[in-house]
Amino acid sequence: MTTLSHDRAPYAEAVALNANIDWHRLSVPGHQNQPARHPGLASLAGPRVLAVDVPPLTEGIDLKSAGTSGPTPLQQTLDLAAEAWGARRTWFLTNGASQGNHATCMALRRFAPHMVVQRSVHSSVIDGSISAGMRLDFAFPSIDLVLGIAHGVTPDTLNTTLSEHPGGAAAYVVSPSYLGAIADIRALSEVAHRHGVPLVVDEAWGAHLGFHSSLPRSALQCGADVVISSTHKLAGSFSQSAMLHLGHGPFADQLEPELERTMLAISSTSPSALLLASLDLARRDLMIHSEQWMPRSVASADLARSLIATEGRFTIPNSRIKTFPDVYALDPLKIVVDTRSGGISGHGARDALENVHRIHVEMSTDSMVVGLVGALSSIDSEYVAQAFAALPYEDLDARPAIELPDVGPRAMDIREAYYSETEVVPASAAVGRVSADSIAAYPPGVPNVLPGEVFTSEVLLFLKDTATAPYGYVRGALDPTVSSVRVVTH
Ligand SMILES: Cc1ncc(COP(=O)(O)O)c(C=O)c1O
Repeated sequence: MTTLSHDRAPYAEAVALNANIDWHRLSVPGHQNQPARHPGLASLAGPRVLAVDVPPLTEGIDLKSAGTSGPTPLQQTLDLAAEAWGARRTWFLTNGASQGNHATCMALRRFAPHMVVQRSVHSSVIDGSISAGMRLDFAFPSIDLVLGIAHGVTPDTLNTTLSEHPGGAAAYVVSPSYLGAIADIRALSEVAHRHGVPLVVDEAWGAHLGFHSSLPRSALQCGADVVISSTHKLAGSFSQSAMLHLGHGPFADQLEPELERTMLAISSTSPSALLLASLDLARRDLMIHSEQWMPRSVASADLARSLIATEGRFTIPNSRIKTFPDVYALDPLKIVVDTRSGGISGHGARDALENVHRIHVEMSTDSMVVGLVGALSSIDSEYVAQAFAALPYEDLDARPAIELPDVGPRAMDIREAYYSETEVVPASAAVGRVSADSIAAYPPGVPNVLPGEVFTSEVLLFLKDTATAPYGYVRGALDPTVSSVRVVTH
């Protein structure tokens, strides 16, 4: 472990030092810090961005400098991150939490060929399981019919699912959900451990949790064994940078070498120094500024919610979400607005917020808009609330709510379906056929159909309605309107 204190950012400092040297670069990256020859790059974020884009495996940053001893800046920042998040070991990811999910699924395959997974996991867990050859048994979350989204799983549900599918590699859950609904991780980890498996938590939306008393505790603080964390989402690092944490629990000795192997297998050999430095700086800022600035972040989200609610047009559904048995706490930095309650669809609200008020929200669905306040940031709550109050009305009778469909029945194993002989058929002819793909309304990126599940007319209609809505995007679709789908050949 490093002896550096958290007000240091050893990796970012080493990168900055290196960038200040007038190198004659004979190495990648090919722009070779020559802004005059790469004016487009230089104009994007200033010429300095080329200088700090230092080559991978640079001495004094990623490797030891000749004649020095002790940990490298890279090792120091990894140790500091592990200490900050309370992990036994932390890996930095330059391909998002998606990479962490892939690495984790591959590592878990060492212990068993199947595991229990929350059905509403992100598509990267499904993709990771397919590449790992992992069979999945699902623990079903409760579905919020008003907002058309899944929350979490209860300890009871996990217990039942693990009893029905013993001997698996892990229990894999998501917390917080896209709406900031946090599951009872302490109880879930006790259940998983009682069944002899580690608890893996996809905490992509919770990298900031536990850094201040105004925030719920993090999954690692509550006994999770492996945590996948999108630092870039709310915790302040650059997009695509994320972390994988190994907890201190009873499975750590077994898991560590496997995670090390799979991280090696699926990491770029040229990780971006900018991304790594941003993780270093995000950790430093969370550690040294949370006490002073986090209360302001939380207060500005609280104020936005309360002004929108007080104005009386829109419902803030937090208290209703909290009544779900699988919701233990809510992330105060998420601002969820039930827009249909105020006479406008989520997509319609987003359109006006963006184009009239220049407010860019995190996501919209047919029924809601989700905004967020980044940890340590704050927003102009009055401006946001006034913009909501000024939203136009839509004729919602003419646009009935798009309902989240039940998942179709499973006909085949996920990987078997994915690698079967397949054909592309018009969506109109796909009812009753077995999907070969994972297809997800995005966000939230929770697959509405998985390989091996049967297409129902409700699932197809939902995907089509989502795709053709103003901000609709369906990940895994063959075309933007989901006019055709890939199915397993009979
Ligand atoms: C629950 C969950 N896990 C993982 C991811 C993937 O994160 P990233 O975009 O950092 O790869 C997301 C993205 O939204 C997510 O919602």
